Amino acid sequence: MSMKLPFFKNKQEETSAHTDLENIPNHVAIIMDGNGRWAKKRALPRIAGHKEGVNSVIKIVREACKFNVKILTLYAFSTENWKRPKPEVEFLMKLPKEFLHIYLPELMEKNVRIETIGDFDALPEHTKEAVQYAKNKTADNNGLILNFALNYGSRYEIMQAIKQILSDVDTNKINVDKLDESSFSNYLYTKDFCDPDLLIRTSGEQRLSNFLLWQLAYTEFWFTDVLWPDFNEEIFQQALRDYQQRKRRYGGL
Ligand code: IPE
Ligand code: IPE
Ligand code: MG
Repeated sequence: MSMKLPFFKNKQEETSAHTDLENIPNHVAIIMDGNGRWAKKRALPRIAGHKEGVNSVIKIVREACKFNVKILTLYAFSTENWKRPKPEVEFLMKLPKEFLHIYLPELMEKNVRIETIGDFDALPEHTKEAVQYAKNKTADNNGLILNFALNYGSRYEIMQAIKQILSDVDTNKINVDKLDESSFSNYLYTKDFCDPDLLIRTSGEQRLSNFLLWQLAYTEFWFTDVLWPDFNEEIFQQALRDYQQRKRRYGGL
């Protein structure tokens, strides 16, 4: 006689049972931190950590597609990261091209659209070229929006918005009295995206490091000590499940 008891479910069933597909954050933003420390622990150069971090990126992109996340914003390079040694900056600037060279066909197949936020013009030519090619190629895809924050700084973004608003007031394109939170948001890099629902930061640091200061006003934060190159599907799902337990109140009851 065979009797199937509900508590003898296999692992796969257990996972899908716990990660409720109905309450998935629309927009997940991740501060991918800890590459350098991952390498240091292995007595490797910091760039080895960045290279390994690319594997985590594709793993999480696949997972985001699987769970029907609408927007995945990944903090890849901040406006402050230019302070790092030149060889490290140069290596980081080559990573988008390397990532896209390997994974663009898969991203196309998965219907992923590539976007960026940040001061794009100030990136090296070769970086811009590779990323722009991918943006154009994926422009008509309507699946996951994979949004890389590249040369992104929130204070810079807000300053640029203010300057543009002042200039638009000057030329009568907008009326100051009509300016509100929603029209202000239209001056930010993120104008086409909803605010993040969930922010993840790896590596144990609990700070924003100039990331999406305006947009994260009501976002749920989730921190882990895991270093970015060790981040994986299981930990991502843990973050999703924890998000699902949160009660968002937006100041109400
Ligand atoms: C994150 O890892 C990647 C970037 C900031 C580009 P780090 O390079 O900051 O790694 P840690 O924080 O030094 O370990
Ligand atoms: C934030 O990490 C930027 C990115 C992940 C791209 P950092 O490593 O630059 O942040 P801090 O310096 O520790 O605050
Ligand atoms: Mg860091």
